[in-house]
Amino acid sequence: MEIVRVRDEATLVDWRRVHNEIVPPAALTVDEVRERAERNVLEVAYDDGVLVGCSTVRPPSEETAAMTVIARVLPAYRRRGFGELLYQHCLRQARGPVETHVLASNADGLRFALAHGFVEVERYLLPGDEIPFVELRLDELDDREAR
Ligand SMILES: CC(C)(COP(=O)(O)OP(=O)(O)OC[C@H]1O[C@@H](n2cnc3c(N)ncnc32)[C@H](O)[C@@H]1OP(=O)(O)O)[C@@H](O)C(=O)NCCC(=O)NCCS
Repeated sequence: MEIVRVRDEATLVDWRRVHNEIVPPAALTVDEVRERAERNVLEVAYDDGVLVGCSTVRPPSEETAAMTVIARVLPAYRRRGFGELLYQHCLRQARGPVETHVLASNADGLRFALAHGFVEVERYLLPGDEIPFVELRLDELDDREAR
């Protein structure tokens, strides 16, 4: 698997495709992705040139003192270890406490986060949505390094 940072129109469009397929309630326009690519580390994962996933590493902000790490793998490519590789790659860029956000209907994502030591902090609804997002947090640095 190759992981590349969003750096041009093609990688930006690929990142958006994965993001919007996995998180439809939070679908982003190309311009919104472009703006996020300046603030966050957005990366895309390919297996033999085939798009399989994308990730977000977001620095601490006014809203949260933790870094946010989110790995996403398209459903057709799950359970082959891509998620683990992508997640570990993202985690190596993070310092201090880490949080992640998973759509509550996303059983694969929730199980993955809980299996990696994340603990649920809260559930919140975006305006107009019916399915909540789950915010989870990973505090234990030792736990992270051991994995
Ligand atoms: C979370 C997510 C990235 C995991 O992606 P993935 O590619 O399926 O991850 P992996 O393949 O590394 O691991 C998933 C499972 O497959 C298993 N697996 C890994 N390789 C395997 C293989 N070759 N054969 C069978 N199973 C395998 C893993 O042990 C793991 O099992 P578990 O669910 O019982 O713990 C994916 O489900 C996703 O995109 N979810 C939505 C986004 C999200 O919620 N992200 C938040 C998490 S940071």
